[in-house]
Amino acid sequence: MSNFSRRNFLKTSALGGAVLAAGLPKVHAAETDGVLKVALVGCGGRGRGAAVNTLNADPNVKIVAIADAFEANAKGAAEGLQAQFEGRVDLKDGVFWGLDAYKQAIDKADVALLCETPAFRARSLRYAVENDKHAFAEKPVATDAPGIRSVLESTEIAKKKGLTLVSGLCWRYDLNVKDMMERILDGAIGDVTSGRLTYLTSQLWKRPRQEGDTEMMYQVRNWYNYAWLSGDFNVEQHVHTLDKALWAMNDAAPVSCYGLGARMQRVEQPANGDIYDSMAAVFEYGNGTTFYSLCRQQNGCWGENNAHFAGTKGFATVLGGARITDLDGKVVYQQKKVPSDMYTLEHVEMYKSIRGKIDTINNGEYMAKSTMMGIMAREACYTGKRLTWEEMMKSDKSYAPSSYAWDGTPWNVQDEQGRYKIQVPGIGQVYHTVTR
Ligand SMILES: NC(=O)c1ccc[n+]([C@@H]2O[C@H](COP(=O)([O-])OP(=O)(O)OC[C@H]3O[C@@H](n4cnc5c(N)ncnc54)[C@H](O)[C@@H]3O)[C@@H](O)[C@H]2O)c1
Repeated sequence: MSNFSRRNFLKTSALGGAVLAAGLPKVHAAETDGVLKVALVGCGGRGRGAAVNTLNADPNVKIVAIADAFEANAKGAAEGLQAQFEGRVDLKDGVFWGLDAYKQAIDKADVALLCETPAFRARSLRYAVENDKHAFAEKPVATDAPGIRSVLESTEIAKKKGLTLVSGLCWRYDLNVKDMMERILDGAIGDVTSGRLTYLTSQLWKRPRQEGDTEMMYQVRNWYNYAWLSGDFNVEQHVHTLDKALWAMNDAAPVSCYGLGARMQRVEQPANGDIYDSMAAVFEYGNGTTFYSLCRQQNGCWGENNAHFAGTKGFATVLGGARITDLDGKVVYQQKKVPSDMYTLEHVEMYKSIRGKIDTINNGEYMAKSTMMGIMAREACYTGKRLTWEEMMKSDKSYAPSSYAWDGTPWNVQDEQGRYKIQVPGIGQVYHTVTR
């Protein structure tokens, strides 16, 4: 049996991916059947979706506060949710906006849904657990190593206090993906020796500057396109696939990583910020297991979002066309998908945990590690270096500003030609122009 012992993992985790916290939640007695008050932080597409999932998951939860960086987003979400869920959304004196509004919202609740722009997740999570709140934390949970260390500390605080911490890495709650991953962890393909991890899709959105926007407002509005805010696209989106690799290794982190990346279609400035649109990375484990990771956001190209694993006894494909074959290519298991609404299921499990109906869920460690895999690959691609997990975990490198304020100065500002600095492997961060 290797260090990444799969069968033992299954014996200790009936939840298939949930890390069970030590100790009993101190808040259970009061919360067994009572009304749980919920705060939503980040009122964009996913935040509004998570609010709906939470209300559908448990009949006895109520949304009592919401917060967003922008007034219009907070008020828009408040209006929409109140209209859709009459009687279950009570936002009298509960609508807040501004970069620090998360505190006021979280103060009013038992449970915090943290669905804001990724750069701010580590600090809202810390605030939630320090103030004895259960949390649902969307992915990714940070955009740099200091953020990851903070999330790991918050994970420990939650464990010690018996608070529930559920990750928005929703595939861990999907019944079909769980079925495939549990088979892999139970040895269906033997020891995992390599994996092919893809998220090959089209460009995502860009948001225009609005009248009166400071540079900080513009960047937070257009957050996807800045590494300090989204982590870059491989952290923000591909983390879902990286997490499946981590899962296949029983949540053991890789030892090192190298890669290559560029921005080929995202050339216009300043709308495309400073992120790449293509990255390939190789993750190396101490036992020789290697994962090959490919992600791309470019229009007009072939697409795939999947995780394929090879083992000493066969092969597995986890998402589209989920199946297991032996070493000769004979299909030994062809999955027939069952209905599975992972976005609701993660909230159903969260409330069962908070109400003491199952062991306390704490997904903190894996959500931090898979986010870190993305950050490590991004830095390997940006710099052209081979990086180790150990050095990344100690790294103080961050593209975040020293403080968050609408009149503050972000790390990357436009030059007189409206260009942001772009990372060029082997060279560094430079202002340069690419035209088509
Ligand atoms: N699990 C999934 O499948 C999934 C799907 C989509 C998005 N997400 C994640 O959810 C998060 C939000 O994504 P989205 O698609 O809703 O983006 P979005 O832009 O629609 O919403 C983000 C919201 O956060 C707000 N915000 C920014 N800074 C804030 C702050 N300091 N405090 C409070 N609010 C702040 C923004 O103003 C915006 O309204 C991201 O981390 C994203 O990766 C996860």
